[in-house]
Amino acid sequence: MKTALITGITGQDGSYLSDFLLQKGYEVHGLRRRTSLPNTERIKHLIQQPQDSNNNFYLHYGDMSDSASINKIISLIQPDEIYNLAAQSHVHVSFSAAEYTTDVNALGTLRILDSIIANTLEGKTRFYQASTSELYGKIQEPRQNEKTPFYPRSPYATAKLYAYWATINYRESYNLFASNGILFNHESMVRGESFLTRKVTSHISQLCFNLIECLYLGNLDAERDWGHAKDYVEAQWLILQHAIPDDFVIASGKKISVRTFVELSFKALGIKIEWRGHDLNEHAIVSDIDEALLSSKTKMKQCFIKVGQVVVKIDPYYFRPNEVDVLWGDATKAENELGWTPKISLEEMIKEMIDNDMILSKNRYKLLE
Ligand code: NAP
Ligand code: GDD
Repeated sequence: MKTALITGITGQDGSYLSDFLLQKGYEVHGLRRRTSLPNTERIKHLIQQPQDSNNNFYLHYGDMSDSASINKIISLIQPDEIYNLAAQSHVHVSFSAAEYTTDVNALGTLRILDSIIANTLEGKTRFYQASTSELYGKIQEPRQNEKTPFYPRSPYATAKLYAYWATINYRESYNLFASNGILFNHESMVRGESFLTRKVTSHISQLCFNLIECLYLGNLDAERDWGHAKDYVEAQWLILQHAIPDDFVIASGKKISVRTFVELSFKALGIKIEWRGHDLNEHAIVSDIDEALLSSKTKMKQCFIKVGQVVVKIDPYYFRPNEVDVLWGDATKAENELGWTPKISLEEMIKEMIDNDMILSKNRYKLLE
């Protein structure tokens, strides 16, 4: 039985990767940090009591800013594979907490690499680094692949650039199997609600139950290459099963704007919107409603959303000091060498996310009734 250690196990990718590896028969260990409220919502279906027999899922307290805790866990488990997913992963927040973001995302990665070497595990342990399309930042080519030069535009991305190179440096210095997955944006129904896609699906569903009055957004013109996290964790595993350590772009190969993502999300509920105004005064109004489709989603005769209602407005609070305007990935290398292609389409992903958020909002609405 192979043993894997996942940092960031309580996050979106950590939860999908745990499910994936457990299904493959792995013993899965996760580094979790202490929080004042539970942070295990996404993995609660996997948590077992220490007393349970046949345990194959273990959580260990630690922190990416704490070398001793990382070293203790690695020396205890001596894992076959380490997936370093832990990060302060919010780009906008990284401008407010630059030093912390750098400590966790850059030095945190170094702490793991050093611990692998200190425990003389370089002949055993394979290391995956969660690198990111944010490295491309101010893009140097219209479509980005493994050879496209980087131009990071945030403390988050500059920290991830350090981690990217540390991974390659330890590969070349110590013959460690260490690989970067340069993943483009990937989402799901357990995506954090402050990221664009989940914010949109969550807030639209709240609008449907009159729980909020409007969806406030920042830059509508940014374009992203959005895929589904379930597909992307399979790529993370494939990268560590490859014959040699290497770096791979993982992307859907399709890009759309924030504006289009918003339109498609409303459309999934039978709501058509039109954009009016310019710049800070730009807003979206409801122009048509497919009442039958919407009531099949709300399971209510009454509809709170009306034609003519303003449902999206701009709030400059969500603008960033520095924006990444466009990201568009080319995953040809992963397709050719790993046999990886995404299976879940953008439309399927939006449907899954919005259907899930409609259930959550309906439950909140029922509590208020
Ligand atoms: P996420 O949902 O924000 O999860 C981040 C994880 O890191 C959480 O488990 C979080 O713990 C943990 N963490 C944060 N600070 C920590 C610390 N100081 N010590 C220990 N754990 C800490 O992110 P994700 O979307 O799953 O992304 C996984 C990784 O891929 C991240 O490194 C991210 O930067 C990278 N990435 C993501 C995408 C994407 O589109 N999702 C694309 C490219 C790269 P809590 O649950 O306690 O907060
Ligand atoms: N979060 C957020 N909230 N983003 C908004 C909003 C808003 O209200 N309005 C517009 N946007 C725009 C952002 O300016 C950005 O251009 C785009 O929507 C996507 O923002 P996020 O969903 O926050 O993701 P991100 O692209 O900045 O970063 C995510 O993807 C990276 C990979 O490219 C994160 O998951 C990173 O951890 C990851 O590395």
